[in-house]
Amino acid sequence: MSLYKIFRPAIFKIEPETAHNLAIDLLRFLPNAASLFCLNKNYDNLHTKLWNLDFTNPIGMAAGFDKNAAVALTLEKFGFGFVECGTVTPLAQIGNPQPRIFRLERDRAIINRLGFNNLGAENFAKNIAEISPKISVPLGINIGKNKDTEDALLDYLLLLQKFYEKASYITVNISSPNTKNLRDLQNENQLDLFLSEIMKKKNELKNSSQKNVPILLKIAPDLTLSEIETIVEAVIKNAVDGVIISNTTIDRNLNLQSTYAAENGGLSGQPLFAKSNEILKNFYKLTQGKIPLIGVGGIASAQDAYEKIKWGASMVQIYSAFIYEGFGLVERIKKDLSEMIKKDGFKNIAQAVGVKSNS
Ligand SMILES: Cc1cc2nc3c(=O)[nH]c(=O)nc-3n(C[C@H](O)[C@H](O)[C@H](O)COP(=O)(O)O)c2cc1C
Repeated sequence: MSLYKIFRPAIFKIEPETAHNLAIDLLRFLPNAASLFCLNKNYDNLHTKLWNLDFTNPIGMAAGFDKNAAVALTLEKFGFGFVECGTVTPLAQIGNPQPRIFRLERDRAIINRLGFNNLGAENFAKNIAEISPKISVPLGINIGKNKDTEDALLDYLLLLQKFYEKASYITVNISSPNTKNLRDLQNENQLDLFLSEIMKKKNELKNSSQKNVPILLKIAPDLTLSEIETIVEAVIKNAVDGVIISNTTIDRNLNLQSTYAAENGGLSGQPLFAKSNEILKNFYKLTQGKIPLIGVGGIASAQDAYEKIKWGASMVQIYSAFIYEGFGLVERIKKDLSEMIKKDGFKNIAQAVGVKSNS
């Protein structure tokens, strides 16, 4: 039994957001603690190369855990192949009233309605300046809009400008369910124009910096096939570099058992697995595997990660399962995944990408 599982009942007695903040403080002030518990072993067959970036393994920390880029250096030590910080907005904001995070223990899930609480771009930039020279895994920066900003595009352009040269990749998050009207940016009448402005800005920054920073779009799982088709069309037309599938769901028809199932917000964890996989499969098929996809939603084992990879994800990210399993899960997934692909006769994880969708 892992150490985390012994302490979990005590941790789960603490209110979820308080527990999260304590964890962040602990990770910030004890950056070397992670090295004591984790081997951070590399497996050659998990090495992944995407967008000219080298990833020692395809398992990433999803956005939302380290909203202010405070603990990325510690997260790296847990064995992640990449870490995504944010969502950061231009100005600091407090988010929605508390309580706003709920553990659905029986469902192995979480509902959150945080609403992009974060310390703003200035604070984030200071932290990134400290991290950048030291971090050895690719660092993603996830950007969003402030609650009160009317013209969302302006916030995204400002953050692109601010963080372009600091990031290994930038995620344009238009899929949080907790910021009013944010998901409307995924709609047919807005998305094409929005993405064309984002990619225009990227190309200006690319020319001036001589650095090609991939721009990824993070989408919701609550999409119909025709909405996915619209997004695929806009992503291809505007040459977006990759897509993260998916954010949390507002769907509650998922046979949830826990007391908090009716809370408003985005649901993550185990019940999101199949739903996010459906979007991933469709997206992979419609793009014929030509656009790198990052699969996220409900991964809690190497088998889950492998499943997403076989449906078309080049890499994966995890959040909720760490709350239930602890960060030792990263090493377990890496070890098991490496064995699984070897057993299936693949020399490298890249050979497994999309095999289920292609068959
Ligand atoms: C408490 C919490 C906060 C989150 N905050 C963000 C965020 O700020 N930006 C974002 O793009 N996704 C955010 N997410 C979504 C995760 O990045 C991920 O897409 C989602 O939780 C599904 O993965 P999981 O099932 O492994 O948790 C958050 C998730 C949780 C549980």
